[in-house]
Amino acid sequence: MARILGVEFAPICIPIRRRLQTFAVFQWTLSFLIMGPVCLALMVCLLFTPFYAIPLFYSVWYVYDWHATERGGRRWCWVRNWQIWKYFRDYFPVKLLKTSDLDPTRNYILGVHPHGIMCDGAFCNFATEATGFSKQFPGITPYLITINYQFYFPLHREYFMSGGTCSCSLSSLKYILTKKGTGNALALIVGGAYESLEANPGQLVLNLSRRKGFIRLALEHGASLVPVFSFGENDIFCQANNPHGSRLRRLQVLVAKYAGFAMPIFYGRGVFNYTFGLVPYRKPITTVVGRPIDVDKVENPSTDQIDKLHIGRPIDVDKVENPSTDQIDKLHSSYIESLIELFEEYKIECGLSDVDHLVIE
Ligand SMILES: *[C@@H]1O[C@H](CO)[C@@H](O)[C@H](O)[C@H]1NC(C)=O
Ligand SMILES: *[C@@H]1O[C@H](CO)[C@@H](O)[C@H](O)[C@H]1NC(C)=O
Repeated sequence: MARILGVEFAPICIPIRRRLQTFAVFQWTLSFLIMGPVCLALMVCLLFTPFYAIPLFYSVWYVYDWHATERGGRRWCWVRNWQIWKYFRDYFPVKLLKTSDLDPTRNYILGVHPHGIMCDGAFCNFATEATGFSKQFPGITPYLITINYQFYFPLHREYFMSGGTCSCSLSSLKYILTKKGTGNALALIVGGAYESLEANPGQLVLNLSRRKGFIRLALEHGASLVPVFSFGENDIFCQANNPHGSRLRRLQVLVAKYAGFAMPIFYGRGVFNYTFGLVPYRKPITTVVGRPIDVDKVENPSTDQIDKLHIGRPIDVDKVENPSTDQIDKLHSSYIESLIELFEEYKIECGLSDVDHLVIE
């Protein structure tokens, strides 16, 4: 602890650093929730001021650039490296745990679980460099795949894209897997809107058993599948009680079905008040990506042994033109198996206990 002329500095320094962390997290929550509509309102208001040329020029750009979000987006390394994301990281803190190299001559689909309320962990790890993704996985470009509507809002879309996020439309995913060479990693939050309705501290419910689109995508493009689990993602917000069948849940499912996004009624702590607000709780988030397995040489390995070797490592997928339901189901099961294995292996290290298990719905 620094003591200069009898003055203790730590108590002054620490709160400022922590305040910056809170600010970093709070501004991200706000930009996720309301920055889009605010930008839209700003553009409309500008039309009635002497600066009306700005929204007019911008709308020309907007139309011209409409497809960018489906063509790999427009990442801006400078934004990905902003100091504010390091404060964001340190708030929880968020950690990226690499357990296997990813070969840059292949493409990858990272299945990220669980969704949580706002995917804070996935955002920090894949849309910023705060946890050093590019250093940990040299030659791999991460694309955080996110819901389309974030890209409809003027200005907001540019900000959102700068982190390397892209639209979740099928043409967007196919474009990255076919037109961008190799070394691309789609970070797909597989459970989507429905899974966010299950995000509660201590809960480990995934919506995965009927989600096979990403498996088909992997088969069609020969992209390797990598299970990724974000421990702690569900612990940073609480959510209004919405059990299956409750009136709230029925309404939320309706919104999710027709709007494509969910409306969890969530809360964390406040900026000043520690018991209620939109700032997430300070709980660690550890995102574990695959794992390396030392392989002893085995003569004539049995199918069982071969299957074992796949666990937790990227599942290499050969390109299949028209995968059958059977092929998809098979890969889907081995993916789920790998994910469970990964979860079980790292849960204790990440603060869970022996009795915690994944619930896959
Ligand atoms: C999982 O998501 C699907 C939509 O993809 C939805 O129909 C289903 O009800 C969800 N399951 C649960 C248990 O929420
Ligand atoms: C924070 O706000 C909540 C809800 O309004 C209130 O119940 C609680 O007492 C407040 N806590 C503090 C520390 O002010």
